[in-house]
Amino acid sequence: MSAQAAGQGLSPVSFSGWMRQIQARVEAALARLLPPGEAIPCRLHQAMRYASLNGGKRVRPLLVFAAGELAGAGAERLELAAGAVELIHVYSLVHDDLPCMDDDMLRRGRPTCHVEYDEPTALLVGDSLQSLAFGLLARDTAGDAARQLEMVRLLAHASGSCGMAGGQAIDLGSVGKELNQPELELMHTLKTGALIRASVLLGALCGEMLDSGQREALDRYAKRAGLLFQVVDDILDCTASTATLGKTAGKDAAADKPTYVSLLGLEGAREFADDLGKQALAALGGFGPRSRRLIELTDFLTTRKF
Ligand code: IPE
Ligand code: IPE
Ligand code: MG
Ligand code: MG
Ligand code: MG
Repeated sequence: MSAQAAGQGLSPVSFSGWMRQIQARVEAALARLLPPGEAIPCRLHQAMRYASLNGGKRVRPLLVFAAGELAGAGAERLELAAGAVELIHVYSLVHDDLPCMDDDMLRRGRPTCHVEYDEPTALLVGDSLQSLAFGLLARDTAGDAARQLEMVRLLAHASGSCGMAGGQAIDLGSVGKELNQPELELMHTLKTGALIRASVLLGALCGEMLDSGQREALDRYAKRAGLLFQVVDDILDCTASTATLGKTAGKDAAADKPTYVSLLGLEGAREFADDLGKQALAALGGFGPRSRRLIELTDFLTTRKF
């Protein structure tokens, strides 16, 4: 483990500086790893690049890198894992915005993929990003084969019908319904929490083997952070502006979707989010200084305004 990861010499880089560094690194990696726009079929490749580049907070890659720091992981492996989970996320956004799902026109401050291109292209963009993501994890620079296999299995589970896609199915089936708290928690845990959790675990898998107690603690952290992320997304949907979010605000209420705000009210949802943030931080208690970036990131996830 590096001296810095072990907390023997904490980086002087501020959280916002670290965040910018990772965001730039991930942007450059994605620009390199996505097929060039001049490669046939050009329009599909251009649309994949349009959806993936120049936008987003890159929260999942940040979690990969923060968990990787905790486990003393190298940057090259982390880049591929971060790229993989971000591509799955982008695919989920492109499909989430389609008319047959949330029917959104604005994403990351720009027209959604199907508006800028067309629906069939957006569908294929999602399909292609998903394939590319698993291809990245399978690259031979990504780590030893057993670890790679574990990462592929983890991301497959997190993105499939028992993870993100399953959560999206519950979301679509819940329009106009009042879900109780366990039902809503399941929906959020799957549609958003699963990929957030996978980001943390993938980052850790890029590094040294953690003992079972540490793995359990990190998983507890990851699950709380995953739910926290979607609760805050629900809150921002009804408190932030379209300009700030870069996506149309107020969509959940307009579409009659059950959210933590519709269930608990704004104040109740805010308290719940703060509570989840505290529970997530408590799970990191035993890791010491090497969990610094994860701690900082958790504060960001709890208090973010976009
Ligand atoms: C939005 O995710 C969709 C959810 C899963 C809640 P983000 O808020 O991470 O979106 P970007 O990547 O920053 O655009
Ligand atoms: C999206 O949830 C979850 C996934 C994309 C998997 P939302 O529908 O709430 O996300 P936004 O608000 O459109 O970003
Ligand atoms: Mg949705
Ligand atoms: Mg949506
Ligand atoms: Mg939302």
